[in-house]
Order: sequence, then structure tokens, then C-alpha cells
Amino acid sequence: MSPGALSARYRTALVTGASTGLGRAFAEMLLAEGVEVWGTARETARLPVRDKFHPVALELADGAAAEKIFLEAARAAGGFDLVVNNAGYGVFGSFAETDFSVWQKQIELMLVNTARLSHAALRGMLARRRGALVSISSLAAEFPLPYQAAYNVVKSGLSALNESLMLETEGTGVIIIDFRPGDYRTDFEGSVQRPAPVGESLLATDPAQKARLDRVWSAFGRLMASGPAPVHAAESLRRALLRGRSGTVRTGRFFQAVLSPLLARLGSLSLRRRILAKYFGL
Ligand SMILES: NC(=O)c1ccc[n+]([C@@H]2O[C@H](COP(=O)([O-])OP(=O)(O)OC[C@H]3O[C@@H](n4cnc5c(N)ncnc54)[C@H](OP(=O)(O)O)[C@@H]3O)[C@@H](O)[C@H]2O)c1
Repeated sequence: MSPGALSARYRTALVTGASTGLGRAFAEMLLAEGVEVWGTARETARLPVRDKFHPVALELADGAAAEKIFLEAARAAGGFDLVVNNAGYGVFGSFAETDFSVWQKQIELMLVNTARLSHAALRGMLARRRGALVSISSLAAEFPLPYQAAYNVVKSGLSALNESLMLETEGTGVIIIDFRPGDYRTDFEGSVQRPAPVGESLLATDPAQKARLDRVWSAFGRLMASGPAPVHAAESLRRALLRGRSGTVRTGRFFQAVLSPLLARLGSLSLRRRILAKYFGL
């Protein structure tokens, strides 16, 4: 379909985490399509200055404050036809040897508070009987990443929520897109938190354990650095929005987004785990 086709369906959109990476590419794609975009970041100075782009300061750590800011933006927009829940970050470390508050914060911020924005967005869309709610989950919902336990919980949780919402919104005029990227070349790796181990640490006393963790970290960096550019994900999202129906979208390099999910359906969970361990050098 020709450029601009999206603006016939979506007049206004909100994208969280629009300052960089995938969110920035989604916002640019929507602007190029003629959609009016509200984009968030913790500091608006990191957001672009553009015609039809409205910068919004939003910190996702405080769910109630984030919902209030979302509702104010929705009022200013006259309602959002499209909401893309994209903001997020990574934490890398051994689950047991990282202070639990770190995992708790990531789950609250990225799962609970994102679900809260989905809740607010969906109420507005259902009242108008139209709109698209997109959540940026991850292929980690199907293929968990070693040493990123809470991230896997968050993405599986978001995908489960999206599946529920797909069932609930049938026949309402609202669509739900569960968007699962593989590794993309963004700032994500650079902003991943690596908290120091706490307490009695196996990582500090057992070189084999430390070497395992280091191998996974190197594989993670390599995979992200060699992934497609964010503009590729934005094109996948554009195509999904033009299809105009609820569904799961896997996107990324062929091996991760097409071949692995296909083979995983044929094999057992334990085989999948063994292959995943090999893939990350465990
Ligand atoms: N890149 C990948 O390979 C990949 C793969 C699968 C899924 N994803 C998912 O895609 C989404 C975007 O990732 P990305 O790769 O584009 O990462 P990125 O380049 O690091 O961008 C992350 C965005 O989230 C915002 N953000 C981070 N922490 C925030 C907070 N506490 N409150 C509000 N906003 C916050 C950042 O805004 P500021 O820092 O400017 O505030 C930034 O705009 C994430 O949900 C990620 O899990 C990425």
C-alpha cells in the first residue's frame, strides 16, 4: 500500500520510549505516514522537534503518574487511535545473586505499569469502538534469555495479556497487536543494567560460573550489534497495522523470527532449552 495509507485509519498515535531505538523508528514511520504523534521519554530534550510531533515527559516507574500523563495527552489529542507501548530496558545478572528489588522494579515498571497504560488506552478505544493497541513484547516470550529473568517474565506477561485482550476485543472495532522483535541494533544493550552480585557469590568464587555469564553477555552483544536496523521493525509494524486485524507479529532476522518459532513447534520444551543453551554458549 502507498505511503500515507495509515493516516486514513489512524489520525493520532502515542508511542512510549520514542527518543531512540525501536520507539523512535515507530514514531518516524508514523509521522512519514501523516499520523499526528505524541512521543514519550523521561526527558523531552531527547525527543525530536518535528511538525505533528508532540513531546511528552513520562517516567514509567510511577504507574499512577504515567497514567495521569497518558490521559492528559489523550485529552489533548482528542483520543488516541493507536497506542504503542514500547518503553523498556534490560537487566543482566544472575537471578539469585542480584538484589531482589532490581527484579521487582523491572517487573513493576515494564509489566504492571505498561499493563496500566494498556488498560487506560483500551478504555478510550472501546468507548469509540475503534483503535489499535500495540505492545512491544519480544521473542524472549518464547525463547527466554539467560541471565535476564525478569525481562523474560515481563515479555511473557505482556504477551499473555495481549492474548487475553485479543479474545476480549473481538467484534469491538479495536485490534490488539502483540509485537515480538528478535535482536535489533538499538541503544538497548548500552542501557542494560548490570548490578553487582550481592551476598555469598558463586560468580565471585567459581570461575566456571563467571565464564558462563561472560559468554552469554558476549553472545548478547554480538547478536544485538549484528541485528537489523530499527527501520526494519517499523516496516513490520506498518504492515501489521495495514492488515487491520489482531495478531502476533514476529519480526527480525529470518533465523530468529521465522525458522526458530517453526522448529520450536515441532520439538519438545527440553530440546528447545538445550538448543537455546547452545545458542548462548552456556
Ligand atoms: N532492541 C531489541 O533487540 C529488542 C528486542 C525485543 C524487544 N525489544 C523491546 O523494544 C522496546 C524498545 O527497546 P529498544 O531496543 O528500542 O531500546 P532503547 O534504544 O534503549 O530505547 C528504550 C526507550 O525506552 C525508554 N525508557 C527506558 N526506560 C524508561 C523508563 N523508566 N520510563 C520511561 N521510558 C523509558 C527510553 O527513553 P529515555 O531513556 O529517553 O527516557 C527509550 O526511548 C523495549 O520494550 C524492548 O524490550 C527490543
